[in-house]
Amino acid sequence: MKRVFSGVQPTGNIHIGNYLGALRQFVELQEDHECIYCIVDEHAITLPQDPKELRKHILDVAALYLSIGVDPKKSIVFVQSDVPAHAELSWILTCNAYTGELFRMTQFKSKSQNKESAPAGLLMYPVLMASDILLYDTDVVPVGNDQKQHIELTRDLAIRVNNTVKKTFVVPEGRFMKEGARIMSLDEPTQKMSKSAENIHSRISLLDDANKIKKSIMKATTDSDGIIKFDVENKPGVSNLMNIYSVFSGKSIEDLEKEYEGRGYGDFKKDLVEVTIEALAPIQELYAEIRESQELIDILKDGAERANAIAIKTLQRVKDNFGLGL
Ligand code: AQP
Repeated sequence: MKRVFSGVQPTGNIHIGNYLGALRQFVELQEDHECIYCIVDEHAITLPQDPKELRKHILDVAALYLSIGVDPKKSIVFVQSDVPAHAELSWILTCNAYTGELFRMTQFKSKSQNKESAPAGLLMYPVLMASDILLYDTDVVPVGNDQKQHIELTRDLAIRVNNTVKKTFVVPEGRFMKEGARIMSLDEPTQKMSKSAENIHSRISLLDDANKIKKSIMKATTDSDGIIKFDVENKPGVSNLMNIYSVFSGKSIEDLEKEYEGRGYGDFKKDLVEVTIEALAPIQELYAEIRESQELIDILKDGAERANAIAIKTLQRVKDNFGLGL
């Protein structure tokens, strides 16, 4: 069986972008792959986090993994910092990465806001991500397409070590959804939807109640021509809403264009509110129960043990190939 690895940062409530771009692949893949899903808390601290909130968000994300259908009997679910090999491999890969390639990463540029001095962890983020992936001899990495550049860097690092030191790493492939690979912000539809954006109406979180969903969608930026048409360049707001509608309802973009021909944005948005509430209801029902259960902690502890067993072996292989230790 091919091995799958992916992770989500516990930086806030998971939104529909995270879900449609990455997480819904997690469930699909666990049927015929060996899956490892991580809550990447060490990535979260590349920007300052409130310690109490971070702990809470770790459990929130874990509970959401299970609520969307990740099955701990089929998949390993664990917290990154419970497996020390991630940070250790990250140093070894840091020594094989070039500062030039790291400074070129668009996520670094946008998160550091081109400041002259930014947290060094932000620059090293993609190297830690490469370590997460390579530590498990991963074949497939299901992610949103904002992560394409980081996956490319992971592949480059793996190939570089394989060619210059010794064949050490499996070279992974990214896996991206055809629809929903990049959900855009509701207020600024040329930017991706993000957990940490200031305006809560820029996103719909998986746990938002019906009122919040309604408010965010009804406020969403559109344009003034009143036509429901998919045209990302000229109508980014409407196209983003159509994308969300299409994935949640299973209706094609062409069918939506026909269905809403001659009707205004008000009608379309009202229906999208209904479709979204309906799609999130089953997740929310499961979440409340799972989040409060002791079983959640047990699952994460068991997951960390299983992940550690794999990670320790890979790390030893890497150290042997580099001539590290005795
Ligand atoms: N807008 C998006 N559309 C589709 N996929 C997305 N992902 C993120 N945003 C979108 C995918 O979700 C997974 C988890 O993301 P992450 O938590 O590792 O961090 P991120 O990419 O930085 O996401 P956020 O929500 O924007 O978080 P913050 O605000 O903390 O930076 C990844 O597979 C990602 O591709």
